[in-house]
Amino acid sequence: MKKIAILYGTSGGNTESIANRIKEKFDGDADVFDVGNLSVAEVQPYKYFILGASTTGIGDLQEDWDSFLPTFSTKMDFTDKTIAIFGLGDSASFSSSYAESIYVIHDQLKDKVKIVGETPDVGYTYDDSLAVVNGKWLGLPLDEDNEYDESEKRITQWVEQLKEEFA
Ligand SMILES: Cc1cc2nc3c(=O)[nH]c(=O)nc-3n(C[C@H](O)[C@H](O)[C@H](O)COP(=O)(O)O)c2cc1C
Repeated sequence: MKKIAILYGTSGGNTESIANRIKEKFDGDADVFDVGNLSVAEVQPYKYFILGASTTGIGDLQEDWDSFLPTFSTKMDFTDKTIAIFGLGDSASFSSSYAESIYVIHDQLKDKVKIVGETPDVGYTYDDSLAVVNGKWLGLPLDEDNEYDESEKRITQWVEQLKEEFA
């Protein structure tokens, strides 16, 4: 079976689209799941997890993830698992809570599972985000509203990084 499960929660489709683009770059080694319709048992066998969520409210987690994360964090057996997180946001309209979905997921899981996929805070324009710690993002932020032309390069670099960190 495939080793990588990409779990996304989306309200407008952006995170789903990015999840599928990430899948393509793993050369058939990844499956994609919508957390709005998912049981923990379905994904328990996978070893590596890529979790993608948009930010809503002001710094809130996308609503399907908001429902699924408590179950995922308590019912999953995280033994020998590794995860990475990506987050969709709007760095112009929500500049003071940019891509904070990454932080919310990271904060919930950081004591339970190995988390990789941190990225340098270089090339982003925003005022503030809880998802940046010591100059590094806790995952990969993407802005399809204002910086869609940057996404391809960011995704490609991140997947290359994950291919080394997922080991
Ligand atoms: C009501 C609302 C609140 C939002 N709040 C934030 C926010 O706090 N921070 C942020 O970076 N983006 C915020 N966004 C922007 C979305 O995260 C962004 O448009 C994202 O691409 C949506 O992805 P989706 O289509 O997968 O849901 C908000 C969008 C809406 C509609």
